[in-house]
Amino acid sequence: MSHIANLTAPNGINYTQPLGLFIDNEWVASKKEDRIISINPADESEICSEEAAGSEDVDIAVNAARRAFDGKWREMDTSFRGDLLHKLATLVEQHADVLATIDAWDNGKTYNAARNEDVPDSVAILKYYAGWADKIHGTVIEPNPSRMAYTSREPIGVCGAIIPWNFPLVNIVTKLGPALAAGNTLVVKVAEQTPLSALYFANLVKEAGFPRGVVNVLNGMGREAGTAIAAHPGIDMISFTGSTPTGREILKTAAVNMKRVILETGGKSPLIVFKDADLEQAVRWGHRGIMSNQGQVCSATSRIFVHEDVYDRFLALYKDEVQKVSQVGDPFKEDTFQGPQVSKAQFDRVSSYIDTGKREGAKLLCGGEACKNMSGKGLYIAPTVFTDVSDSMTISRDEVFGPFVVISKFNEEKEAIKRANDSVFGLGAAVFTRDISRALSVSKKIESGTVWINSSNDSDGRVPFGGFKQSGIGLELGELGLAAYTISKSVFINLNSKL
Ligand code: NAI
Ligand code: MG
Repeated sequence: MSHIANLTAPNGINYTQPLGLFIDNEWVASKKEDRIISINPADESEICSEEAAGSEDVDIAVNAARRAFDGKWREMDTSFRGDLLHKLATLVEQHADVLATIDAWDNGKTYNAARNEDVPDSVAILKYYAGWADKIHGTVIEPNPSRMAYTSREPIGVCGAIIPWNFPLVNIVTKLGPALAAGNTLVVKVAEQTPLSALYFANLVKEAGFPRGVVNVLNGMGREAGTAIAAHPGIDMISFTGSTPTGREILKTAAVNMKRVILETGGKSPLIVFKDADLEQAVRWGHRGIMSNQGQVCSATSRIFVHEDVYDRFLALYKDEVQKVSQVGDPFKEDTFQGPQVSKAQFDRVSSYIDTGKREGAKLLCGGEACKNMSGKGLYIAPTVFTDVSDSMTISRDEVFGPFVVISKFNEEKEAIKRANDSVFGLGAAVFTRDISRALSVSKKIESGTVWINSSNDSDGRVPFGGFKQSGIGLELGELGLAAYTISKSVFINLNSKL
């Protein structure tokens, strides 16, 4: 079977979609002879079907990555590695319209968001790490006149990357950029719900000129290809983004050969609005912070706590904002803010939390139902806001991962901090106040990897991102995200040769 298809996307863009497994710079078939069908969540129609990797395919990809690691890649001048990453960034920029089209089609995110956020963010991350490639070095330590030591920062080896479906392109470059800058090779397993942009991207990797085997991209199911990567003794490190239960499982599986593990998992991030806050701005950020990307954001601020003196006003403004901004519909339409949920499984999951919220007695401010497109199809959920929730309700504790927010009121600062921290997660938190001392002292007391003062979900490739508690292990992005892909070696030198 051919490993490409000529496709026409709903916006009329015509392009060539790779369908195979990308191993050793070639497109190959799965040894399992298995395929995955890609679905457009806007109407549940079939887009195409692709090769699905099994454990034998993972094994072949790991061998290719190992040969590449032991070969030319290792000996390459570091600035040349940077050049290749720069070339890749430029190619992504040149193919921006197609990449954005694919993600809008396959994932259901709006074309506008894919084109104006996901693609430029991915380019910026690649360029940032391209710049690091020739600036990775160790230090000299001189403990006394007869001893000297130096450290060098070496690549870890073959890295496995397991990617989720919510930001298909950003998530891949977040792992690929630092891994390659540091001189590692990669086996990437993309999410089975949204493999198409990553397969297209793999062709750009080849075009940029990366040697064979440096990057291998496999579509495959989590239980098969994902588990095979986590378990493979030839993989030295694994970086995973996805759910907390899957992260926990990967951590256990990866213990077989003590892989280095980075996990970026779930969240239930709080947003606290003090009574001195700029209320209109808090409402706008509070809306974007959960409703962007169909609510499918790990650090979405999905629990809002508002001071009781401004609570009623906040609710009125929030409802207006949802009605004004949260235009639900076709991802390719210019004025759409919210597309469909990524898959039937996610649609069902969010729907079941809506039922739970109703059953638990939370008050529905708006939404609370599925909504269909004009032809009666599609995995759309109306933006849903529950108010007057208590902290013990399931909807206040579980990550829902949809356009779904819970709002409650507080009285004391201490109470707000305690309730914000009352979660197994600790990914992000937002604080709205005009009082700088309060902003900083609350930030200090919040248990999360990121705090936003007077914003929500700001992110930047130069700033490290990671979770406290069960939101993850290790960091991605920034200089610390690069350090994770290196291992430090210490060399002692005995200067006078005597014992
Ligand atoms: P998931 O965590 O199961 O999937 C993420 C990736 O892990 C996919 O590539 C999947 O194929 C792979 N995977 C699944 N099981 C695996 C296993 N046993 N071993 C190795 N790899 C495995 O997430 P899923 O089922 O798609 O979504 C469920 C929930 O996860 C969402 O509702 C949301 O709460 C959370 N999630 C969080 C994300 C984040 O950015 N932190 C992204 C996606 C989902
Ligand atoms: Mg899809």
